[in-house]
Amino acid sequence: MTTESHSPAGTEEPAFGPPPGCPAHAVGPGVGPGGLRRLHGPEAEDLGALYEKLRAEHGPVAPVSLHDDVPIWVVLGHAENLHMISTPSHYTRDSRLWTAVQDGSAGADHPLAPHIAWQPICSHAEGDEHLRLRGAVTGAMTTIDFRSLRRYINRATQRLVNAFCPLGKADLVGQFAEHLPMSVLCEIIGMPEDYNDRMVHASRDLLKGTDTAIASNEYVMSVLTQHTLRRRAEPEDDFTTHLINHPARLTDDEVAQHLRLVLLAAYEATANLIANVLRMLLTDPRFRAQLNGGQMTVPEAVEQSLWNEPPFSAVLGYFAKQDTELGGQCIRKGDGLLFGIAPGNVDPRIRPDLAASMQGNRSHLAFGGGPHECPGQDIGRAIADVGVDALLLRLPDVELDCDESDLRWRSTMSSRHLVDLPVRFEPKPTQDVTQRPSVRALPSQRAPWQVTTEDTAPAAPAPGPAAPAPAPAAPGPAGRPGAWQRLLRWWRGH
Ligand code: HEM
Repeated sequence: MTTESHSPAGTEEPAFGPPPGCPAHAVGPGVGPGGLRRLHGPEAEDLGALYEKLRAEHGPVAPVSLHDDVPIWVVLGHAENLHMISTPSHYTRDSRLWTAVQDGSAGADHPLAPHIAWQPICSHAEGDEHLRLRGAVTGAMTTIDFRSLRRYINRATQRLVNAFCPLGKADLVGQFAEHLPMSVLCEIIGMPEDYNDRMVHASRDLLKGTDTAIASNEYVMSVLTQHTLRRRAEPEDDFTTHLINHPARLTDDEVAQHLRLVLLAAYEATANLIANVLRMLLTDPRFRAQLNGGQMTVPEAVEQSLWNEPPFSAVLGYFAKQDTELGGQCIRKGDGLLFGIAPGNVDPRIRPDLAASMQGNRSHLAFGGGPHECPGQDIGRAIADVGVDALLLRLPDVELDCDESDLRWRSTMSSRHLVDLPVRFEPKPTQDVTQRPSVRALPSQRAPWQVTTEDTAPAAPAPGPAAPAPAPAAPGPAGRPGAWQRLLRWWRGH
């Protein structure tokens, strides 16, 4: 057995057997064979609470079971998660090495098969093959012009806001958070805009795992395959063409599979991130006050949300390539481990006070780490930063239109998705997204949502017959730009 250097205490416990006297031995609701707590079913509805119970019982790595009582380790510690994802010599993402796959207990008919089944994509590959596939993805991403991207995110936000701003109310999940990332991703991969809504519906259906999920997956794959073939024949300056032309020489199937990976990873994670940030800002008076008072920027609010509510709460999974030890547990070759992003982010060893601000600290696990670290994080951050900022600029008086306790979530082991976020605001006129944004839509008085940092700065220029040319404004006391500069930056797409 190889003993990891980061954890002194190895155990000789048999894999997945809780120590004698451990409360997990107690048989009861939520506990399966071998005394393993189940990560599914009614007892696991509040996964956050269950993870804390497991942390108290077992420490940073706990034995649990998935559907069909398939055993797995859940990694709860921040350091242990980081160690696992950054040590490819000991842990792989290739599920074919998992004992449960090899003995058929996590086979094709397992409810989590879509997360488990090995696919020829970079998320499941390792070594040279991972370098080849991931190299093509990151190579194509380096061709993205972030200045134009931010400008596009602004325009897409304006279009979405125009659809509901005259009504004075909206659902910011169904009408905003779920559409903005898909619109941006379709633009990046070079797909016609007409596809956006259909792709949102198909992806939502696919990720929910409803009865029509297979048909939706087929629709997504057929659209992406046609798009790949079209770009092979008619290259353009877009992500798809750069993926095709990369020296890694991906096949058409590999290109389509990676477009699907990028589209779905980006769609689900970024939609969750935007919804989480907006909910946090709408329901937590601390963040509202900090944003209004200029002690926090929208990107900082996004980062805080990545700590508190990571868009992917766990990733299934990592698999041990050899006998080893992690967090005091003896891990056998072929064991599966759940990358616990949400529990890792609230590990009391790094966050003794969960209410304390994490401003300036980006060491959360939301984007993973090691060889598989999310290559699209700058894109995800840009969509959330620019989208939320531009939305608040258009709707400075936005408020939650229900009791916070009425908000509903759809939770799986991998993510927690806000179902809807009803809001109300004073009805506003639409804006021409191709023209300089009209400042008339903004109230003349500073509203609670005004995100400028200067207390003395007006919320917006006084309404007039024509929008005045933006005047350069001095940076605020904390060096942050004032309202005019932000409007100017917004218009220029920075
Ligand atoms: C807020 C948004 C996002 C979050 C929180 C997020 C999070 C993650 C996480 C946790 C992983 C898995 C890491 C692991 O396996 O250890 C991942 C992988 C990946 N993400 Fe993201 N992601 C986001 C946005 C995006 C975007 C916008 C794109 C593409 C444009 C993207 C593309 C990918 C790809 C291709 C992988 C697989 C990388 C590999 O296995 O080598 N993600 N992401």
